[in-house]
Amino acid sequence: TPQLHAVRGEILHFIANPASAGESALEHFADGVLVLRDGHVAELGPAPELLARLPAELPLTDYRGKLILPGFVDTHIHYAQTDIIASHGEQLLAWLEKYTFPAEARFADPAHARNVASFFCDELLRNGTTTALAFATVHAASVDALFEAALERRMRMISGKVLMDRHCPDFLRDTATGGYAESKALIERWHGRDRLQYAVTPRFAATSSPEQMTLAGRLYAEHPGIYLQSHVAENQGEVAWVAGLYPEARSYLDVYDRYGQLGMRSVYAHCIWLDDTDRRRMAETGAAISFCPTSNLFLGSGLFDLGRANELGLRVGLGTDVGAGTSFSMLQTLNEAYKVLQLKGQKLPAASAFHLATLGGAHSLYLDDRVGNFLPGKEADFVVLDPQATPLLARRMACAQTLDERLFVLMMLGDDRAVAATHVMGEARWQRPG
Ligand code: GUN
Ligand code: FE
Repeated sequence: TPQLHAVRGEILHFIANPASAGESALEHFADGVLVLRDGHVAELGPAPELLARLPAELPLTDYRGKLILPGFVDTHIHYAQTDIIASHGEQLLAWLEKYTFPAEARFADPAHARNVASFFCDELLRNGTTTALAFATVHAASVDALFEAALERRMRMISGKVLMDRHCPDFLRDTATGGYAESKALIERWHGRDRLQYAVTPRFAATSSPEQMTLAGRLYAEHPGIYLQSHVAENQGEVAWVAGLYPEARSYLDVYDRYGQLGMRSVYAHCIWLDDTDRRRMAETGAAISFCPTSNLFLGSGLFDLGRANELGLRVGLGTDVGAGTSFSMLQTLNEAYKVLQLKGQKLPAASAFHLATLGGAHSLYLDDRVGNFLPGKEADFVVLDPQATPLLARRMACAQTLDERLFVLMMLGDDRAVAATHVMGEARWQRPG
């Protein structure tokens, strides 16, 4: 017999992009009910109407006074960098050498990987994130550890073994053919199991030889439905370095294009130093961008042009990019996205911001048929935000008039403290004590 369950509260989700659909992109119920069947959305509507016709004995979780949103989608994060978040003083390339590579070396120990993976998944849930596209490390067992932790919690997790066969310490180096074989074995073990999917993961063009880039492109082509994740055009020193390594390429993005790494389900973090030829090529191939504002500010990388990406119809999601990013919180990430766009002379209305963190992210990952909103049949992942979570939030909320204003206050002042609960496939996986 199907398991039915209802959740009541203020409910908000997107059925389209507010940038193009305007007001009609958003559905809002001041007092709504979400009906769940076997971990999926069965129905959504106003409480008085639904409660009148639903069976009286239906179990109901009461979140009145709180705001229920689809679970956040973090489209770029490194689980192995959890322990080096907030490491001082460097920009990208020096930061990789000084902090990142030593931290990732520790994942040669599977016990360490399991310990971090478990903390990482719990921390995502504490922040309302239910879907993530995450880098592991060069070690195949680091992928096993993350997928095992995500599977236990039933999170939607996409990850892969880092491919890195040059310009890195010996202890983190694989080989082109070894990396290919290990990736293939991981794909067979994990891809499509419960809510787990595999991403071919060349770290960035600078740390893969042309031979490894060829084989990464081959893995991506050989497995329909597989993802590919990498970094591009993050830092100007990095861009110059890659230009010297691949002199035949028109641009940094063109390196990936030449190796068959642009297409549906390919996701590129940063994309700051692109030109319109690059952007059009991404739009044409269906490749997506992960916008990582806290990381871009922290490493001094630059300011992402979201306005231009939207004008050209690109798929864009939001990424925390922990550990270069400074927060697991998608609310704090939206806060910094807003400020980045201010410096670009662009606006980020609250509706667009929350769309980016939910349905927009799902769309960028080609997952909008499964997660990102509460249309019937979707997987029932949701976050319950408490607009009164802190004294300042409560005080500021008291003078917020419109829904738009309240959402803006939440994204500017909210963080993990504002997350009262996180549900995955309908089940509460995190509940704020008290
Ligand atoms: N480029 C290549 N590797 C990395 C990484 O680990 N973090 C960031 N932010 N950029 C990268
Ligand atoms: Fe990154």
